[in-house]
Amino acid sequence: MAGLSARPKRLPPKYFYDATGSHLFERITELPEYYLTRTELGILADHAKEIAAFVPAGAALIEFGSGSSAKVRLLLKEMPRLGAYVPVDISAEFLDEEAARLRREFPRLNVVPVAADFTHPCDLPRSLGARDLAGFFPGSTIGNFEPDAARELLRLARRLLGSGATFVVGVDLVKDRRVLERAYDDAAGITAQFNLNVLARANRELGAKFDLSAFAHLAFYDQERSRIEMHLVSRVAQSIRVLGRSFAFAAGESIHTENSYKYTVEAFSTLAGEAGWRCASVFLDADALFSVHVLRAKIQ
Ligand code: AVJ
Repeated sequence: MAGLSARPKRLPPKYFYDATGSHLFERITELPEYYLTRTELGILADHAKEIAAFVPAGAALIEFGSGSSAKVRLLLKEMPRLGAYVPVDISAEFLDEEAARLRREFPRLNVVPVAADFTHPCDLPRSLGARDLAGFFPGSTIGNFEPDAARELLRLARRLLGSGATFVVGVDLVKDRRVLERAYDDAAGITAQFNLNVLARANRELGAKFDLSAFAHLAFYDQERSRIEMHLVSRVAQSIRVLGRSFAFAAGESIHTENSYKYTVEAFSTLAGEAGWRCASVFLDADALFSVHVLRAKIQ
């Protein structure tokens, strides 16, 4: 309600991820234009052993925004003595499906799912006791946050994971705008469906009356701010009722639904440094499309 009342109108990207949205996102990750997931999986596959070596035996590995847990599988295979795997995700339904699948694949692994919004400080399950902690934050989800909020999130993770912690973070890199824009406006229109699902979700859960065909998906790269912006643009002048309130749209007026920040390796290392982490290692694919940073807690 706050976002729809704001000018310009906006909705936080975390609302994309109900069960429908999470499944649509999985389809995005398989698109030819969406290089991010495929590339990051390649980096993790190539360097899983080196990355796993940073995580001590018996430690608990906390994944922030675990989704389908596809990436962590590559690391788990190289961490046979891991104490626990703790997937944290906002989509509770999806989380339990995936936890069950992981337990079948890794019968000796202690899987402790936590349904939570990791942007708020949360306590870890008591069952973890005094284990060493490591964090895993793949997918360039960090790119959804404004640089100030991203730094705050890295600080929060530093506080949660403690001294001695390792934090493995996947970060999408600055590149040619055409490659970036295609990745967020695919030919099959799956990203458009994913974007529009936030309105469908408002219809389902809030009894809103959005006509999805009256909104267009828009994605473009803002070079100055190094970010992709996604919007839903009202095709006509219209007024929509949500929870007893009416929201007016001019023709062409947009709801800003997502930013996806892109970093250089240097810019991200600096940001992490300001949040109490030092860069121990960074791995890139051969085309320098994507980066996986291994951060270690600075002694403070
Ligand atoms: C899950 C936030 C990393 O920004 O690339 C994909 C979400 N949005 N296509 C991204 C997304 C449109 C994705 N993240």
